[in-house]
Amino acid sequence: MGDQIGTSEDQRPTVIGLPAGHELRPDPDEVLLDTAWRCDVPLASSCGGQGVCGDCVVTIIEGAGNLAPPDVVERAWLDREARPADVRLACRLHVLGDAVVTTTYW
Ligand code: FES
Repeated sequence: MGDQIGTSEDQRPTVIGLPAGHELRPDPDEVLLDTAWRCDVPLASSCGGQGVCGDCVVTIIEGAGNLAPPDVVERAWLDREARPADVRLACRLHVLGDAVVTTTYW
C-alpha cells in the first residue's frame, strides 16, 4: 500500500509540489511533466520530454516507493549525470501513488 497524503474520491494519485503547494493528479499512463503542463504548473524542458536535457528534474521528498522505477532512458541519464536516488526526470516519471516533490524554482 502506498503512502497516504490526503483523501479524495478521485482515484488518481496526488503529487504535491513544494514549496508552492502545487497539487497534481496524474492520469493513468501520464508522465509527471505532462501532468504539470496540463495543470499550468511550470516545469522546464528543452528536449520535449526525450530524457536528454535534464531540465525537468524533480527531487522526491516523500513517496519514492510510489513511483515507477526509471526506464532505460531515465536510468542512462541518471547514471551519466551521477544524480542521487531522490532525483527523477519528470518527463519519464510515472506516478503510481501519492508523492511529494520539489524543484529549485517552485
Ligand atoms: S524534458 Fe528533457 S530530460 Fe525531461
